[in-house]
This record gives sequence, C-alpha cells and structure tokens, in this order.
Amino acid sequence: MNTIAKNLVGWIDQRFPLMSIWNEHIAQYYAPKNFNIWYYFGIFSMVMFVNQILTGIWLTMNYKPSAIEAFSSVEYIMRDVDWGWLIRYMHSTGASFFFIVIYLHMFRALMYGSYKKPRELIWILGMFLYLTLMAEAFFGYILPWGQMSYWGAQVIISLFGAIPFVGESLQTLIMGDYVVSDATLNRFFSLHVIALPFAIAGLVLLHILALHEVGSNNPDGVEIKNHKDSEGKPLDGIPFHPYYTSKDFVGIVVFLMIFAGVIFFAPEMGGYFLEHNNFIPANPMQTPEHIAPVWYFTPFYSILRANTVNFFWIPAKLWGVIFMGFAVMIFFLLPWLDRSPVRSMRYKGWMSRTALGIFVLSFLILGYLGALPPTPARTIVAQIFTVIYFLFFLLMPIYTSLDKNKKVPERITTNGH
Ligand code: HEM
Repeated sequence: MNTIAKNLVGWIDQRFPLMSIWNEHIAQYYAPKNFNIWYYFGIFSMVMFVNQILTGIWLTMNYKPSAIEAFSSVEYIMRDVDWGWLIRYMHSTGASFFFIVIYLHMFRALMYGSYKKPRELIWILGMFLYLTLMAEAFFGYILPWGQMSYWGAQVIISLFGAIPFVGESLQTLIMGDYVVSDATLNRFFSLHVIALPFAIAGLVLLHILALHEVGSNNPDGVEIKNHKDSEGKPLDGIPFHPYYTSKDFVGIVVFLMIFAGVIFFAPEMGGYFLEHNNFIPANPMQTPEHIAPVWYFTPFYSILRANTVNFFWIPAKLWGVIFMGFAVMIFFLLPWLDRSPVRSMRYKGWMSRTALGIFVLSFLILGYLGALPPTPARTIVAQIFTVIYFLFFLLMPIYTSLDKNKKVPERITTNGH
C-alpha cells in the first residue's frame, strides 16, 4: 500500500473497524482447501442478487406501476429505451438464473450435510432467504401485467381464500380490492422494489455472519477446526483472500459468460423463463386456457394440484394448499430429520444416497408435470411422486440411522478442483 492509502486506512480504522472486518471475514477467514465446483454457487447467488438490484434500479426508471400503463411501459423499455432490452432480459433471465444457482446451492448442502450441527442456523437463514426469494419472484412476475402476470396472481392469491374463516378477508387484504387490480399492482411493486430486497440483503448478511461464526463445511464433511497448527490456524484451511477470491473470480467470469449466452440467444428459454402468454396484455375478461407458474415454482404447483379428494371435512383445494406449504416448510426440519453421524454423501451409505437420488428425480418430475396442463394420467404420476417427495423427509430419521456409513477420515482427503 502506498503512504496515502495507508494513511487513509489508518484514519478510517481509528473510527471504524475496517481492517478487523476485512481480516475476520476475508483475509484471515480460513476456508477448507478442498472446495470443489459446488462451492461456487453461494458467490454466484450473490452475483445474481447484485445483478437483480442493479438492473432493477434501471428498469424502475422507465417502468410505470399502473394497470393502464405497465404493459406498454415494459414494451417501451424493450423497444425504445437505449439498451432497455438488455436490462430487461438481464433481469427476467436473471430471475431464472438466480433460482438455478439457489437450487444447486441447496443441493450442495444436501449432498455434503452442510445443514447439520453446528450449521443449522446457516440453513434456517438460507430457508428464510429461499421463502423471501419466492415471494420476490412472485411479486416481480406480476409487474409486466401480461396475461400470466394477471392470472397467475389470481390463482395464487385465491389459494389464501381456501383458508377457513379468514380466507376471504385475507384475500381482499392482499389484493387491496375485490379483484386483482391496479391497487394490487401498486402494492406488489412496492414490496418487490423496496421491502423484499431489503429483507434479502439483511438475510444474506446474517447468513454469512452465521457461516463465518462456525466456519465452512466441505465436500468431506470433516471439521477443519479440529486440527490446528501452533498459531491456531486450521491445517486444512487456506485464507479466503487471496486464494478463494481469485478462484471465485475465475468462476464468476465463466458463469457470466454462460449467463450472457442465454441472454443473447435464448432469453425466454422457449417459454420457460418468460411464458408466451405474458406477451399478451392482461385481460380480466379472458382466462388463458392453461395457467402455470414459472419453472421454479412448478414442483410445488404439482403438489398443490395432486390433491384431488375431499378428505374429512377439508376440501381438496385446502389439502392442496396444506401439502404445498408443508412441502416447502419441511426443509426447515432437515437438520433434525437427518440422524446420520456422517455429514457428507461421500461417506454415507447406499440408503441415504439412493434416497437423495430419488428425491431429486421426484422434484424434477413434479417440476415437469407442474408446467403441463393436468390430465388424469399426469395427476396420478404427480400423486405418486408427491408421496415419494414426502417420504424422503419422513423416513429420513429411519434410513439415516440404519445406513451403513463408511469411515470418515480425520483430515481432508482431496484437494479442490
Ligand atoms: C440470496 C441467496 C443466498 C446467498 C447470496 C447465499 C450465499 C452464500 C455464500 C456466499 C455461502 C458461502 C459459499 C458457499 O458455501 O457456497 C453460503 C453458504 C451456505 N448457504 Fe447460502 N446463500 C443463499 C441462499 C441459501 C439458501 C436458500 C440455502 C438453503 C436453504 C443456503 C444454505 C447455505 C448453507 C448450508 C451454507 C454453508 C455451506 C457449507 O459450508 O458447506 N443458502 N451461502
């Protein structure tokens, strides 16, 4: 550092703990040396968050949150605003990319048991992030005020109507009207651009603070803090800076190249990232033939639709809502459902490995079915995979206790790649 920079840092440091934050969280944060490709997705999630905020700020400069003007203001951004098409696609394709990296980030945690003690709180904060992101994406999808924005909102908000006693009032409260209308669009805009981004930023900070309190897990699932050198530094750890900052930089460049490729060549991804019907202005008088949410919600949408029978005094629709809610919330319990003494799938037995494989398959199949119009045969398949989905969680205490695990090494076995 030259003298001016040193003096400046010194001046700040007397007034603010700049260097101690830098050292604690970056330069002296010891991360396991065997991080593999799966450990990129946390930083990619951060990159996507920054992308959404920046492109969102520029979109808001030309977007009009009113039922009369919203659709045409988005068309104006796409056709007339300089680089507007790029900013819009970076944001809309960005939303899908955000969910791709989040799902891979969560899958990594499932593979390496990163939710297990002492990292339960990192996982729980991650789940709150996931819920907030889902709400953020839902509110965002309404803003272009196309047919899917309108009718998607109608379907999801009507789910609240299924709740006994308070349902109808709750529905009106959410919409700010008796139907999805200008008032709904306005409040969803406000939540989308102000409230939820703040909540997400705060949760990301807590997520990282919790991570740095206990330290990162790794593909072997062994605790690097158990073996330290004479200076108290983990033998299997390396400082985050410069080793992982430079490694992450390379990963980010590759990731952004892929992201750019999709933005330039398939921004709507054949109707999966932006549905065809959403290029038609919202029309409250005409329901589209087939209403499906964007791909990242479809596994849960399938579970919602899989319930077709009235059981006890509860109607099928309410069962659907209950199961769908349960399908998301059950992830919170994972740290306590997994009874295995071993963290990583590398050392878990065949039962845990098979269960995870089947679970991923059921999630993908449910996702695929959720994007299609229902038929009696598809509903049966969705019912079967809904059962499998829940069995993964409900049987977890049993199969993780019975499983024949391999011996976990004392120290990290592989280097990163
Ligand atoms: C905006 C969303 C999110 C951001 C920006 C984010 C960011 C990060 C970062 C930077 C890391 C450290 C690097 C890494 O391990 O990849 C991390 C770790 C972790 N995250 Fe997230 N995350 C987000 C959402 C989630 C979600 C939805 C979950 C799960 C429900 C989750 C669970 C975890 C866990 C368990 C770890 C520790 C992993 C380990 O040490 O093996 N995160 N996160």
